[in-house]
Amino acid sequence: MNVHTPALGNSDPFDEATSIFADDVIGALAQHPKRLSPKYFYDAAGSELFEQITVLPEYYPTRTELGILRNRGAEIAAIIPKGAALVEFGAGATTKVRLLLQHCEFAAYVPVDISGDFLTQQAAGLRKDFPRLAVHPVTADFTAPFALPEEIRDLPKVGFFPGSTLGNFEPQEAAAFLRTAREILGRGAQMIIGVDLEKDERVLYDAYNDAAGVTARFNLNVLVRINRELGGNFDISAFNHRSIYNRDRHRIEMHLISRKAQTVRILGKSFSFRPGESIHTENSYKYSLDRFTALARETGWTVRNSWTDNAKMFSVHALTASD
Ligand code: AVI
Repeated sequence: MNVHTPALGNSDPFDEATSIFADDVIGALAQHPKRLSPKYFYDAAGSELFEQITVLPEYYPTRTELGILRNRGAEIAAIIPKGAALVEFGAGATTKVRLLLQHCEFAAYVPVDISGDFLTQQAAGLRKDFPRLAVHPVTADFTAPFALPEEIRDLPKVGFFPGSTLGNFEPQEAAAFLRTAREILGRGAQMIIGVDLEKDERVLYDAYNDAAGVTARFNLNVLVRINRELGGNFDISAFNHRSIYNRDRHRIEMHLISRKAQTVRILGKSFSFRPGESIHTENSYKYSLDRFTALARETGWTVRNSWTDNAKMFSVHALTASD
């Protein structure tokens, strides 16, 4: 059932993506405890806030991963076959992929993302700067099986999944993603993947509770988005951002905490909140090198090489598809 249809009952039907968003939000807020998927953070404002997060002094992952890719680019290049196709799962800022493209001689680049507009922009910039690279964007949800472009059928394949986006997947989702990526890329494939590591809890806490409050705005923006796209009436000032490190589950948890007893209406449905009640908006899992190696092994990959920064804050792995 599409929850929006009876609620709106007007001539302005939602597009398919908004319908799915509506169904997900209504279902997730009816759960106890209430949950929202972190994938809904990334509307235009959320993507911009995330870019701001990546340069915060407390948020070490982006700059640390970039440092590893910069310092170890030549070593990474040495294990990648010349003339391969680089398949990036998700497309964000192109800074990281540019580092790989500079070091390795790829014949083709296949960015895969649900946002077609973003892909088009990204592809145009890369075609200009790497004129010999064939760029074949694919608009698809990269967590589900999708077809690779026919043009790269005969090329060796290298997957790229930077940013520790894997950490935002639940453990079973992370395993499913790695298995699907293995299927899509096929026999003999390789994968370069960035994974955030367990570390001092204070460092983790600060990275998700920055002093400037950008992460708080990023978290709260999902409520702004629900108000705008689904006609919700969240009072944004009645919720607080909270991030904690859950040591037993090796994850940062982000929550939005209701500051009072309140009722919110979305698409004709009411959701009541107790004072202090949480909407759990994101998990960001942190791995040890051993736990990541075991996960890779269980999902059809062998860790061929792992690189970290000196302080062992972040890791980049080269995986090879197991036969
Ligand atoms: C995109 N992802 C890897 C980020 C993370 O660190 O889990 C999202 C994020 N959430 C709060 N700050 C950054």
